[in-house]
Amino acid sequence: MTQDLQLDHNGRLKHFLTIEGLSRRTILEILDTAKSFISVGEREIKKVPLLRGKTIVNLFFESSTRTRTTFEIAAKRLSADVINLNIATSSTAKGETLLDTVRNLEAMHTDLFVVRHKRSGAAHMIAAHVPAHVHIINAGDGSHAHPTQAMLDVFTIREHKGAFEKLKVAIVGDIQHSRVARSQIHALKTLGVAEIRAIAPRTLMPIAVERLGVMPFTDMREGLDSVDVVLMLRLQTERMTGALIPSEQEYFNLYGLTPAKLACAKKDAIVMHPGPMNRGLEIDSAVADGPQSVILPQVTNGIAVRMAIMALILGGSPAESRARRAADA
Ligand code: NCD
Repeated sequence: MTQDLQLDHNGRLKHFLTIEGLSRRTILEILDTAKSFISVGEREIKKVPLLRGKTIVNLFFESSTRTRTTFEIAAKRLSADVINLNIATSSTAKGETLLDTVRNLEAMHTDLFVVRHKRSGAAHMIAAHVPAHVHIINAGDGSHAHPTQAMLDVFTIREHKGAFEKLKVAIVGDIQHSRVARSQIHALKTLGVAEIRAIAPRTLMPIAVERLGVMPFTDMREGLDSVDVVLMLRLQTERMTGALIPSEQEYFNLYGLTPAKLACAKKDAIVMHPGPMNRGLEIDSAVADGPQSVILPQVTNGIAVRMAIMALILGGSPAESRARRAADA
């Protein structure tokens, strides 16, 4: 159902809503296209004309720093016109429905909406209602999915580790409430990663996580043993009802990534975090700012990955070769 919504009859991306069900080929096409856009950000004139004349609206109903800004920068580097709707002062605050807001912006000839919403399924719902020439990218819906974050994470892993097939990857922390973890698991599985581990207290581990092809661990040192990649997650306190962790101090003692715990992973393991980080809660500053951290490169890569997804959706066919030509120009 989602795939019908997400792909056109030729199997090309129409919307980008979830990683679930995307083929390995499509994921690799996005990664390769993103690779060709990295150089654009390193030039003096950081712009290619690929999406000139296209209108992109950033519709963020939830707070965001990295995701919203990198989407905006990505759109501008592709020469699109980008509008950031300030939800606090928009008509949604006066009671307008989400679909009415979208229909009005659609009437202004918007080509692409980038949507973040606290309700799971919001981006899918909009995608199901817009006409065929309007496209939707999911920038995070509730605790369901955050597919562009997962794409920038696997891009960063490939940049540092090469092939996926031999890698052991640990996802650590509040997996239960994390849309990032869900999307990462689907991406890593599709890319054929050897082992995906989930490390969390029982209260923050999704029920039957094994069914997603993930090995659960409640002991962090055991779970980190000889992994190549450590993906840390923020404690999503805004999504918790009731006390799911004993105390912040105890959480840090058991699940905070310190240099001592990181020593259980491979010597050359990389440490990632989608941000925003809670230093001293899920990660020690010595690790966050240490030599194995690739947390800031993740942010930089997020621009190229979001450029690639927008270019593949809006650039027409064959978008990848046009994107490459534009990036090479
Ligand atoms: C994540 C999000 O908003 O889902 N952050 C992000 O997009 N960079 C993760 C989080 O909020 O913990």
